[in-house]
Amino acid sequence: MSNISVTETIKYIGVNDTDIDLFEGQYVVPDGISYNSYLILDEKTTVMDTVDKHKVTEWLENLESVLAGRTPEYLVVNHLEPDHAGSIQIFLEKYPKAKVVCNARAYKMFPQFFTVDISERNVIVKEGDELSLGSHVLTFVTAPMVHWPEVMVTYEKTEKVLFSADAFGKFGALGDNGENGATECIENFAKATVSDSWTDEARRYFLNIVGKYGAQVQALLKKAAALDIRIICPLHGPSLAENLGFYLEKYDIWSSYRPEEKGIVIAYASIYGNTATAARKLADILKEKGVENVKIYDLARDDMSLITAEAFRYDRLVLAGVSYDGGLFPCMETFLNRLKSKNYQKRQVGLIENGSWAPNAGRQMQEILSRMKEIEFAEPVVTIVSTLDADSEEQLRQLADALV
Ligand code: FEO
Repeated sequence: MSNISVTETIKYIGVNDTDIDLFEGQYVVPDGISYNSYLILDEKTTVMDTVDKHKVTEWLENLESVLAGRTPEYLVVNHLEPDHAGSIQIFLEKYPKAKVVCNARAYKMFPQFFTVDISERNVIVKEGDELSLGSHVLTFVTAPMVHWPEVMVTYEKTEKVLFSADAFGKFGALGDNGENGATECIENFAKATVSDSWTDEARRYFLNIVGKYGAQVQALLKKAAALDIRIICPLHGPSLAENLGFYLEKYDIWSSYRPEEKGIVIAYASIYGNTATAARKLADILKEKGVENVKIYDLARDDMSLITAEAFRYDRLVLAGVSYDGGLFPCMETFLNRLKSKNYQKRQVGLIENGSWAPNAGRQMQEILSRMKEIEFAEPVVTIVSTLDADSEEQLRQLADALV
């Protein structure tokens, strides 16, 4: 995948990873992921970030191919997380004259990951500093806690390119990683499309990985609004060269925790299928009432990172949970704690509880939800004692009325 142009003088040298089983040790990536890295060709040839160390050989091949005998002057480190910084040590050993450009926080964290000494080969930058490469000029913009403390983004003002670190990234390898992968990759870079495939996997990426830090993302968006941006080059997924307003609006919605669409997500945890039956019954009632977007998920079997993203996507959520060992069935408790940790808020929530001798899941779900901001409960809490009956079915209808 070498020699892919973002512009005439900015080249993509990143790699796809379709061998990975779980990104960050927990997120399924059925279509893999890309670790993006870029090379700016100028008087001072500059590498923008590296890649995960498992892909260092392929990355160095891409780098050397585009370098074509040049020697890199700088390595800009926007983000020190290993999926991007994992090849720094090998790079610095291979190119001993290259200097590391990073901020003071990254410099301080550097020895936590690497043994190579950069005390005599660093350029420490701070907010607003500029670095001339020749015809290109880099401006550094700090983005603390988006989503690590040392994160910065880099704006190249001659070609109006924002190297946005993890922001605007998505799960999924570029192209199909097969024979035509490089071609599709070029197309991705030349013309990113406003497609569901970007939105769904960018949403799942953002809300699970960066979602907790909405305030910090809002601060970064304000800084970005002052820049004249033509192309966004993230550290994952395609570069974005058209319809930038679409992507910026999505980021504004996600980071301010506003619902993206009207719709109802029903997430259930069921031991023997009776709670699942109730969840499906509610979905049928809601559809009968004309609700268009009704999504139903099994917390024990469906991907929880997807269900989390879907919960943020829509304006209403119904949780159907059961009692277990005197508490909540584990996957429901895990899901609620995940919503809490990602700052779930500003939504209407309905509850269905099931228990065979002392149903109390509703109270326990309510207790966790009450620690989240601006949650409005839809009444009633539906109580099922083992299986749906006429009384609990009537309660489901009342809950549906409240949600509609
Ligand atoms: Fe893609 Fe925060 O690393």
